[in-house]
Amino acid sequence: MAARVDLYDGAYANYGSGVYREVRIETYGEDFGQTSWVTTEESRDIPRMLDLESSSSVLEIGCGSGGYALHLAESVGCQLVGLDVNGPGVRNANQLAAARGLASRARFEQCDASKKLAFDDNTFDGVFSNDVLCHLPGRGKVLCEMFRVLKQGGRMLFSDALVVGGMLSHEEIATRSSIGYYVYSPPRENEKLIEQAGFCQIAVTDTTESAARISERWQQAREKRKEELVAVEGNHNFEGLQRFLSCVRCLTAERRLLRYLYLANKGA
Ligand SMILES: C[S@@+](CC[C@H](N)C(=O)[O-])C[C@H]1O[C@@H](n2cnc3c(N)ncnc32)[C@H](O)[C@@H]1O
Repeated sequence: MAARVDLYDGAYANYGSGVYREVRIETYGEDFGQTSWVTTEESRDIPRMLDLESSSSVLEIGCGSGGYALHLAESVGCQLVGLDVNGPGVRNANQLAAARGLASRARFEQCDASKKLAFDDNTFDGVFSNDVLCHLPGRGKVLCEMFRVLKQGGRMLFSDALVVGGMLSHEEIATRSSIGYYVYSPPRENEKLIEQAGFCQIAVTDTTESAARISERWQQAREKRKEELVAVEGNHNFEGLQRFLSCVRCLTAERRLLRYLYLANKGA
């Protein structure tokens, strides 16, 4: 088995460090504090896909550093709640919100999003989750919770980079899973579970190619800064993350793992 490697603690605790910022800019083009496969084009399209306006209230599941949620709160003017299980991520997000004068519009809470969400029914106009549901057990229940907290007519969006598209060896699965708990989905399982949760008008976009591009850029941006990153992460973790990123690039480039974006509505 591949040894356990840390991605999220280091990325969020070192959010403000110059070298981590340089890596994000070189990987994504724009820095939203990402630790995912979301391209800048996808980030820019999310407000349109979710039909957000300044009066909207939005929930982000797995907000990480909070950088993207705060970008939405600032650019759209909406109210936003971000949830993440990672302590350094949530701390960073609340500190950024205060520093940017956005604490009245955006707040962040640490919680395990695979459990019942602490919100009333019909609370949010939009619920989204970028590359997070693959980390949560019980996808069907999670989708039911997303449906429950969404208002009638609201929209839901999530991405899943772990749809199985071909043959995978046990070493590849171990390396791809080295940063944490993961659930791999068979093709069309998400569509079935989204429908079972009660959603309609499901649109599915294949974004596998952009995941291959992001993982390659991320791996190369880190390799160029190896010395500085090893000084922070240690050699073992640096090499483990490089192997993880190479594995993502290979599996997505060969379409043996696929990334899809799912957009759906709660009622009309
Ligand atoms: C691939 S990162 C995506 C972060 C962010 N959405 C982005 O686009 O950069 C996955 C995130 O899911 C969070 N996560 C993992 N398990 C979780 C859980 N059980 N509940 C809430 N968040 C979780 C991680 O801490 C991490 O921030």
